[in-house]
Amino acid sequence: MAVIGIYSVKGGVGKTTLSVDLAWRSAVRSGHRTLLWDLDPQGGCAFLLGMEPRPGRRAASIFQRDGRPRDFIEPTPYPNLSILQADDSLRALGLALARLGQRRRMATLSGFLAGEYDRIIVDCPPVLNDISDQVISAADLLIVPLPPSPLAARALAMIRAEILANHDRHPPILPVLSMFDTRRKLHREVHNGFAAGWPFIPMASAVEQMAVQRKPIGVFAGWTDASQRMQRVWDAIEAKLRLRATLAS
Ligand SMILES: Nc1ncnc2c1ncn2[C@@H]1O[C@H](COP(=O)(O)OP(=O)(O)O)[C@@H](O)[C@H]1O
Ligand SMILES: [Mg+2]
Repeated sequence: MAVIGIYSVKGGVGKTTLSVDLAWRSAVRSGHRTLLWDLDPQGGCAFLLGMEPRPGRRAASIFQRDGRPRDFIEPTPYPNLSILQADDSLRALGLALARLGQRRRMATLSGFLAGEYDRIIVDCPPVLNDISDQVISAADLLIVPLPPSPLAARALAMIRAEILANHDRHPPILPVLSMFDTRRKLHREVHNGFAAGWPFIPMASAVEQMAVQRKPIGVFAGWTDASQRMQRVWDAIEAKLRLRATLAS
């Protein structure tokens, strides 16, 4: 089992879009038993999968000492793909985790689920607090979506430094240029420069349409360049996980 965290301190960079589509690829294309764990109280993951919110649910209570994640897991419209929906209770999660004082609570919970899932994909809220600490400690791989600006290298370096300030070590980080516009000279320069070799997702209306169709892009526009690029990101993730497994064995 592997935990993949989708992380950035910034909002609006494509975290939720990536989380949902990559989770779909993990489940449907790779056939992995996959759990999409939404930790952002904005709750975009279930929306993008065409699901209704579950009123009265308390997603944050999973983290309590007697929390039972299985009670909160729901199937999605797609085979092999389950979801832990977010809700408003997560707004207070940072504080609750600080009080709980167990930095590896999420890693422990993920461990409990290891028999049922091959991949856990975590949509992390744009914070640097106890929630991100938990995700970083639990993750085998961190995906950091970055808009293709000359500042992207600096943003990535800052994220690394902030992570290292609180963690002796962190999982490997895979940066992804998340809204790459080939018509923009600046974007091309970034992609030909320090970000050469980073996977990228083109800025595309097909990606935006996910929020209208409420489906992963691979479901309604699998032939598009954007969808194929998303698949390459997923392939890169799987390759990194395989390498890690080989090194560990
Ligand atoms: N590659 C892309 N091309 C066009 N629009 C995108 C792309 N990636 C994300 N978006 C749009 O940008 C907005 C923010 O994306 P979202 O995934 O919600 O970001 P985050 O979770 O980081 O806040 C959404 O409206 C989404 O549809
Ligand atoms: Mg989001």
